[in-house]
Amino acid sequence: MKILLVLLALLPLGVAYYQLDNAIDPIKMLYSYTGIGAISLLLLSLAPSTYKRICSINWLRYRKTIGLLAFVYALLHVSIFVALDSEFDFVTIFEKSLKKPFIYVGLIAFIIVLLMALTSFKKLFAKFSKYHKAVYLALALALLHSFWAQKVAGVFEYGIVAVGVVLLGERVWAKMHHNFK
Ligand code: HEM
Repeated sequence: MKILLVLLALLPLGVAYYQLDNAIDPIKMLYSYTGIGAISLLLLSLAPSTYKRICSINWLRYRKTIGLLAFVYALLHVSIFVALDSEFDFVTIFEKSLKKPFIYVGLIAFIIVLLMALTSFKKLFAKFSKYHKAVYLALALALLHSFWAQKVAGVFEYGIVAVGVVLLGERVWAKMHHNFK
């Protein structure tokens, strides 16, 4: 089941690769696929505990895999910026980030996702799992970054907000009714 989850999650990258030759702006297309992939998987990583509370279906064992897949997408997204878009030229990176301040918001979100990925392995997770609540901050920052990058919010952004509000709303409700585990 985990292999199926990984294959399904990586499928959009295959589609992006396939569409590269016909893309008008290949770098922008790759930013979209990897950015949307990262934010969607980050949101999906919240679903297993909601599912357990609402439907008593225990998919918590997939949460780490989903979280690590979100990190892989975010890492690819940042690599597009550093390698393809800025060609490892750090002067360009600095100049671009001054013109596109939304990049700093993305950077903070990326650092949170990176630290969560690094501390998701056994010993470190036992020690740092309480800090994994930072996923909410990473999601909010990634959403702000995405809105800001797009200048106009599309169906995707509003969709992420709607799902985010439902998942967060369920958590607040569960906490108020002492059903939060
Ligand atoms: C150092 C960190 C980051 C950098 C440098 C970066 C860079 C960018 C750039 C340049 C764009 C605009 C692309 C364009 O339309 O021209 C963008 C868009 C986007 N980024 Fe990031 N990003 C970073 C972190 C993140 C993270 C951590 C996430 C998600 C978890 C993310 C999600 C997105 C999304 C969803 C979009 C909008 C894509 C679309 O709708 O087309 N970014 N990012």
